[in-house]
Amino acid sequence: MRALEADPRVGRVHFVASENSLRVMAEELGVSGRNDLLAKLLQTGEILEADNGLGGAPLKTVQHSDADIGAAIASGSHPSDGMIVLPCSMGTLAAIAHGLANSLIARAADVTLKERRPLLLCVRETPFNRIHLRNMTLAAEAGAVIFPVIPAFYNRPVDSTEMARQFVCRVLAHIGLTQPGAYVWRPEE
Ligand SMILES: Cc1cc2nc3c(=O)[nH]c(=O)nc-3n(C[C@H](O)[C@H](O)[C@H](O)COP(=O)(O)O)c2cc1C
Repeated sequence: MRALEADPRVGRVHFVASENSLRVMAEELGVSGRNDLLAKLLQTGEILEADNGLGGAPLKTVQHSDADIGAAIASGSHPSDGMIVLPCSMGTLAAIAHGLANSLIARAADVTLKERRPLLLCVRETPFNRIHLRNMTLAAEAGAVIFPVIPAFYNRPVDSTEMARQFVCRVLAHIGLTQPGAYVWRPEE
């Protein structure tokens, strides 16, 4: 979120947090409550070097309720360069793989696929059961990229922040937003 906010090539970011993600964020990030969620997330951690200098206040990110199936991103007529679900739970993967469109996240993903735009599903679970594997195959066959939250080690990350930073770089490169500081494997050097 911080990288997208700070990237001059990005005009608008639509942010949707599922109800269940609020619980996960409280547990994992110590960020709780819906009020000012975006500002709190933008202030949390130094994922990329860039900063909009506004102390976390979002400039180009708008937040939608996951229940708001009438939001702009629910329609294919709304221009968009792609969608990233990060992290993507097995529940949300299942909803997307089966075209349920029963929440804004699932509907926007459905729209992204039908409009043939990039959809990255950053799945996070281990181990996988056969339902998970089948749903990943279904989503991939429909055009999604299964992009597991798995850190790289060949760049010798010194800590988990660097792992997260390089993972974000790989994700954003996939939608055409190559980041400064992204690690590139150059074995000849
Ligand atoms: C702290 C915490 C971490 C979780 N991590 C994962 C995870 O990595 N992958 C996953 O599939 N579910 C995980 N879950 C379970 C999901 O949150 C749960 O299945 C939820 O219904 C998914 O809803 P969502 O897709 O709206 O986030 C986690 C739950 C909690 C409380």
